Amino acid sequence: MEFEKILKKEKLEREDLIAMLSAKGEERKLLFEKAVETKLKYVGNKVYFRGLVEFSNICSKDCYYCGIRKGNDKVARYNLSDKEILDAATYAHENRYGSLVLQGGEIISPAFTKRIENLLKKIKKLSNKGLGITLSLGEQSRDTYQRWMDAGAHRYLLRIESSSRELYNKIHPVNEHHEFETRYDCLRTLQDLGYQTGTGVMIGLPFQTIEQLADDILFMKDFDVDMVGMGPYIEHHDTPLYQFKDQLLPIKERFDLTLNMIASLRIVMKDINIAAATALQAIDPIGREKAVKIGANIIMPNVTPGLFRNDYALYENKPCTDEDPEQCLNCMDVRIQLADGEIGYGKWGDSAHYVRRKK
Ligand code: 5AD
Ligand code: FES
Repeated sequence: MEFEKILKKEKLEREDLIAMLSAKGEERKLLFEKAVETKLKYVGNKVYFRGLVEFSNICSKDCYYCGIRKGNDKVARYNLSDKEILDAATYAHENRYGSLVLQGGEIISPAFTKRIENLLKKIKKLSNKGLGITLSLGEQSRDTYQRWMDAGAHRYLLRIESSSRELYNKIHPVNEHHEFETRYDCLRTLQDLGYQTGTGVMIGLPFQTIEQLADDILFMKDFDVDMVGMGPYIEHHDTPLYQFKDQLLPIKERFDLTLNMIASLRIVMKDINIAAATALQAIDPIGREKAVKIGANIIMPNVTPGLFRNDYALYENKPCTDEDPEQCLNCMDVRIQLADGEIGYGKWGDSAHYVRRKK
């Protein structure tokens, strides 16, 4: 069979990736089998946690897809206190999450740089340097990235959102605050400074083609990223892209396409860390577990204090917004086992790709 030949290839071309992303039925089964085999061989069955703190939804940007964009005046804006953030970090540390992700709307200011720098130092201290720290705070200057690294951050997530400049410009305002080049340059800077560098895209965006998604995978490979988090695009009422909701793939197909993307990426970039995006769970209650089963090895359980979770709505139907982190942890154990995984408690779970790249 033609498809089996593709999966046996050493080097996958754009055409091969398009076939893999389009796989259905029996082909899809083969794709997943190959991804599972690759995952077990190169990264094993351990699943690592990154406790996610969504500490503020105040954002200076206006991305057309995002529910917390500056132009949305229907969101109640919040900004956690340092104490609340540090309490969430303590919680993650005490429950052996291993790592923490600090995520928030994009703010660029000396005061913001300073605040994060202080928080990083305090988190390192409260955990005896035990917690690994990932930042997801958007486009910043080289100097800011450097200072945060010196203060203890070692991973950074900055999704390219789409590697197609054309599509990028359709889902962002075209102005100096939303330039594809800037995003790209920031990613290079992060990599250059020695961060474990993560990127990702949204899947099922309006106007997006399967060819562009194949190119996204090639982009990640060419860029040589260490980590990827990618999830389905989910429309949000109070955003400009909502007007195109009737042109989207049905939600179930966006979900399936995301799984095909994850499996294909695992086959192409064997030893990177791949996160099971929370957006998958907004579509299917066991969506993240399905992603773990076919190639993902990272989960980012939300440790933001419950009170604020509803206000960090990047997209609609965001899951677990009313749960305690405590309850989350209990249910995660069972969930991961069902996905043939095992939680790597208390471990950083660095990207094997990064470790290999550094040698
Ligand atoms: N649907 C899915 N993902 C979204 N993000 C933002 N808005 C949406 C949406 N409507 C993702 C972006 C961003 C990350 C923090 O959340 O990819 O990088
Ligand atoms: Fe906040 Fe895009 S809307 S970074």
